[in-house]
Amino acid sequence: MLETQALTIRFGGHVAVDSVSCGFAPGTLTAIVGPNGAGKTTYFNLISGQLRASAGSVRLNGRDLTGLSAPARMHAGLGRAFQLTQLFPRLSVHENVRLALQSRQQGLGWRQIRFWRTWDDDRALIARADELLERTRLSARRDHIAADLPHGDQRKLEIAMLIALEPQVFMFDEPTAGMSVDDVPVVLDLIREIKTDRSKTILLVEHKMDVVRELADRIVVLHNGRLMADGEPAEVIASPIVQQAYLGVAPTEKTA
Ligand SMILES: Nc1ncnc2c1ncn2[C@@H]1O[C@H](COP(=O)(O)OP(=O)(O)OP(=O)(O)O)[C@@H](O)[C@H]1O
Ligand SMILES: [Mg+2]
Repeated sequence: MLETQALTIRFGGHVAVDSVSCGFAPGTLTAIVGPNGAGKTTYFNLISGQLRASAGSVRLNGRDLTGLSAPARMHAGLGRAFQLTQLFPRLSVHENVRLALQSRQQGLGWRQIRFWRTWDDDRALIARADELLERTRLSARRDHIAADLPHGDQRKLEIAMLIALEPQVFMFDEPTAGMSVDDVPVVLDLIREIKTDRSKTILLVEHKMDVVRELADRIVVLHNGRLMADGEPAEVIASPIVQQAYLGVAPTEKTA
């Protein structure tokens, strides 16, 4: 169980996330929605450790993670896609995935990977990396350098690496934003696939309401940094407060 308790961050006088208390159980996909600037990404940053909270706490399975760095939180089981590609831009797609698998196998933090290990001997690792590339439709890019990939492929690679790390919690912040029409269904399929593993907790920030409607077990609405609604998708989407404050003003499709 992932929980935030009165989680808050202030930037100067502006309270971007305002005392948000919420729990996310394994086996559920929670969509976090709200207008631009509502605090969704900042809430993710506070959970994953990119930002330090002004007040409140983040707990995973009862363990207080609030004081931990982002890599330590990842090691504890919080997985967020965007943290990854920038780490090994000069390595190939396959090497990136192998490193993620290797760090998981050795139970090491992301920054403590042993580069000197002889990869070529490790057939099981190679096969598992190839399998992940197949699932993410990246097999044709296997030996391409990560930095040279088109945007959609880089984001798919992030997801492949995230899956390789086997986190308990998957956090996706607008995972299909800026993707081509061919890449969008691949990414949504991957999220569906992760969802079939009932031990995983998924948090998804998404502006496309048709996607939210289909994938979410629950919707949490943030507005001006505050938790404004929380419940079953149909119920939340239909609630007057959401119709008025979010769906009434925000476009259903965001052009990133
Ligand atoms: N590092 C920062 N310093 C100052 N203000 C910030 C910082 N990060 C976010 N904010 C502010 O916090 C508020 C919430 O921003 P956030 O990016 O979390 O919104 P969001 O819900 O993710 O919006 P979008 O749908 O556009 O992605 C905004 O007013 C933003 O300007
Ligand atoms: Mg955002």
